[in-house]
Amino acid sequence: MTPPFKTRITDLYGIRLPVIASGLMWLADPVYVAAVARAGLIGFMTAASFPNVQALREGIRRCRELSAGKPFGVNIMIRVSRDGTDRVNPLIDAAIDEGVKFVETAGNNPEAYIRRLKDAGITVLHKVPGVLRYVKKAESLGADAVTVIGAEAGGHPGIEPVGSMVAGAAAARAVKIPVILAGGIGSGEQLVAALALGAEGVAMGTRFLVAEEIWAHRQYKERLVAAAETDTTLLLQSMRNTQRALKTPHVAMIQQLEKSDPVDTAAILPHIMGTVGRKAYETGDVEKAMLSCGQGVVFADKIEPLAAIVDRIEAEARVAMARLLSLRGDGT
Ligand SMILES: Cc1cc2nc3c(=O)[nH]c(=O)nc-3n(C[C@H](O)[C@H](O)[C@H](O)COP(=O)(O)O)c2cc1C
Repeated sequence: MTPPFKTRITDLYGIRLPVIASGLMWLADPVYVAAVARAGLIGFMTAASFPNVQALREGIRRCRELSAGKPFGVNIMIRVSRDGTDRVNPLIDAAIDEGVKFVETAGNNPEAYIRRLKDAGITVLHKVPGVLRYVKKAESLGADAVTVIGAEAGGHPGIEPVGSMVAGAAAARAVKIPVILAGGIGSGEQLVAALALGAEGVAMGTRFLVAEEIWAHRQYKERLVAAAETDTTLLLQSMRNTQRALKTPHVAMIQQLEKSDPVDTAAILPHIMGTVGRKAYETGDVEKAMLSCGQGVVFADKIEPLAAIVDRIEAEARVAMARLLSLRGDGT
């Protein structure tokens, strides 16, 4: 069947649908990212999930073996180092040495790294919250494309979250590089809407968490399937590190701690450590952790193979597109 859409994003990555599977801490591993690749999309393996650089190198090789020659990428978190240790360049070294062609950067300004990546022939997608000055900055730094994160997103929607409907349309007007919209997007109808806004693709995180290839405990996925669009909440605004996570007793406890004045950051930190989340993914004991989750969880309605999720998104997008065309007022 002819692909339903051709955009600069499908061309950039050589993918079947303009849909990106963004980095997922602990979860976007070689098995998941390769499943995304085999389903005809591009996924980004989260470098920060690996215990060290050697493990990342092995992860890249494993992903290549599993990907059947299809494109995949690596997600690199740009960290501002407090102790002067360079935690980013070693990851970039690994990506370059291992022949990675696509990188997604996120977290901070990639200025210090983008030239190196580009000189190595790597296509750079930079991810920013839906604030225009960040979107424009990504373009001015030479990113090949920019992902714009709206307020509905799981993970970090930015300190001043802007809804996806506003963020996507404003970003598409503001820059010439292709815009990928993310944040609460989990259906084919939304993909068509994002294209109408001027974006050339969408990124999804939450929608894919219920894929069979995600290694986390089944109980976690069942919790997501049962979740409504109101079952997520924003927290950590007090630390200027706003996150959207699944509503759990653990999250409510952190929100309570945030109410103290002044905020006792030291009391909060142990509860938001990544290892707490990883344990919940392992055990399925979701209620004892802060787990990133977006409002698009409402679309994560079934545990099934990643390829089946992608097929459904494509079918929904085709129907939405046909419906739009049927609404044309000139009868053509
Ligand atoms: C469980 C989870 C873990 C995430 N981990 C990361 C991460 O390590 N690095 C990153 O750049 N983004 C991370 N994100 C954000 C996603 O890459 C993506 O931007 C976001 O999920 C898009 O919004 P959506 O969840 O509404 O689809 C994470 C999101 C989720 C839901």
